[in-house]
Amino acid sequence: MPNRPTDAAEAPGPVTGLRAGPATDVRIINHFNSQEAAARYAGNRPQSHGRVLGLVESILGAALPVERALDVGCGTGHSTVALLPLARSVVGLDSSRFMLAQAAQAPAIAYRSGYAEALPFARSSFDLVTVCSAYHWFDQEKFLQEAARVLRGGGWLVLYKVGSTGKIANNAGFDTWKREVFRTRYPKAQRNDEVLTEEKAIGFGFHDVARERLTHCVRHTLNEYVDNLLTHSSLIGAMDRQQESVAETRRWLRQELGPYFGQGSADFIHEDWVHLLRRDLSASECSG
Ligand SMILES: C[S@@+](CC[C@H](N)C(=O)[O-])C[C@H]1O[C@@H](n2cnc3c(N)ncnc32)[C@H](O)[C@@H]1O
Repeated sequence: MPNRPTDAAEAPGPVTGLRAGPATDVRIINHFNSQEAAARYAGNRPQSHGRVLGLVESILGAALPVERALDVGCGTGHSTVALLPLARSVVGLDSSRFMLAQAAQAPAIAYRSGYAEALPFARSSFDLVTVCSAYHWFDQEKFLQEAARVLRGGGWLVLYKVGSTGKIANNAGFDTWKREVFRTRYPKAQRNDEVLTEEKAIGFGFHDVARERLTHCVRHTLNEYVDNLLTHSSLIGAMDRQQESVAETRRWLRQELGPYFGQGSADFIHEDWVHLLRRDLSASECSG
């Protein structure tokens, strides 16, 4: 049977989901490290990866498809499958064996268990490295060092984020509810949302190619939206801390959100972003 995830015990780096954050002393927990969270993520997280990677395709044009791509923090493979039009073969890597166990299979995809901060691959193994909705969970400096090592000179690094909880079009009341009620009950999980500056990227051997923000509109039913929210780290975190069960959380969300779904559905505006970088050639690659 091809492409099953390898044993988590093989992965280098930390063995628990808990680690100290790099810049501040925050404790970053991997909220995707349980069977229940992984199953909900695989089934209910909306996927707009293709839209963002389509933009990357239009920028890179004739350079695609590349031979080998790596998707770091691949989760249940939504971002890995979306890479297939851009690469002949793709490796998805994640530190949660539960997420990997749910990952979508395809002949050109292989999954590995491992950590972004200690990538289990040789120098210059990939032409393209992507990270979708996971960079904020990494020790970013260690990851950037590793990304520069496993990418060939002239290879590309794509950091992007999809899956915002969104805003309801023309509904300021929803924004207020989200800010004052939802975020009070479910504060954002500890993460590192620092934006990678051009100056910092240069220090790791990368230069900026493009930065874009993309918005799109999606009609969600109440149930779809509630199921989507139940895949987010802030809610998983609250449930992990055993403050409430999934059923209780779902009941509270349905009750609170019902009035915003008067016609059975509501139109949401979601925002995604992408940061495309290129790895510089090293001195040895120039002379070769
Ligand atoms: C929000 S999910 C994103 C999954 C996928 N990229 C997608 O777009 O659906 C974040 C993923 O990052 C993984 N992750 C968190 N910290 C990690 C680390 N240090 N190394 C590797 N994976 C990590 C989690 O296990 C989780 O699967």
